[in-house]
Amino acid sequence: MDQPIGVIDSGVGGLTVASELMRQLPKEQLIYLGDTLRCPYGPRPKEEVIKYTWEMVNFLLKKNIKILVIACNTATAFTLEQLRTELTIPVIGVIQPGARAAIKMSQNMRIGVIGTEGTINSNAYPQALKAINSTIRVNDLACPRFVPMVEDGILFGPDAYKVVSETLKPLKEKNHIDTLILGCTHYPLIRDIIQEVIGDHVNVISSGEETAREVSTIMGYNKKLFNGNRIPEHQFFTTGRLDVFQRIANNWLNQPIKIVENAVISSN
Ligand code: DGL
Repeated sequence: MDQPIGVIDSGVGGLTVASELMRQLPKEQLIYLGDTLRCPYGPRPKEEVIKYTWEMVNFLLKKNIKILVIACNTATAFTLEQLRTELTIPVIGVIQPGARAAIKMSQNMRIGVIGTEGTINSNAYPQALKAINSTIRVNDLACPRFVPMVEDGILFGPDAYKVVSETLKPLKEKNHIDTLILGCTHYPLIRDIIQEVIGDHVNVISSGEETAREVSTIMGYNKKLFNGNRIPEHQFFTTGRLDVFQRIANNWLNQPIKIVENAVISSN
């Protein structure tokens, strides 16, 4: 029997990974869950992020997923190792793929990372980068204003530009990075503004493409790829408001999608 790929995020950000999965693995069915009601995860204590992530995972395990993609850097930073130890299906995070993609692009090995407070404080990116190449110099910066703005659907225009340019100022001023990792899956939704602010000389990297490649490789190795012919029916669940989620999903995925229901994943 064929099984779906499970994808989780705190909200709409994981759609940037889902869209790459749909592009690279067009026959695979996705089941996506965004915990929009409790987004952002970034400022929350580690224990809370772990608890919420497990609630999302348990929701998807009931849907019989064959692989879990944690399309959220904050949840990856806090739960990847634990989920890998406790689940019997493969678990893929977004931090190692993001680090690999950045190293491929960087010439001077000075890499910037922007993410939520949770991800930046966890030090997960510097660790992942230095595990590959210990001479890399990393400049990281938490950008707590970005996720609420994206979840409100503010992706363009002068207000978004102002927030991005004010936030990235310290990163622009003090370093010579040639590559910037978007260490939060919400940030590709405002990528054009980030690129404009940081400058064309900096490669802006999102982990979606490399993450989808890793999913494809692992499923191929485990002989779990769907090998018939079909146009899959994806299922999207959100714990929060349907309207903004629907609008961003339709735009970002370049196709109308149906959100199956308003998911209830916890009793709180
Ligand atoms: N999109 C998520 C990430 O990659 C989480 C953002 C948030 O909920 O703060 O970190």
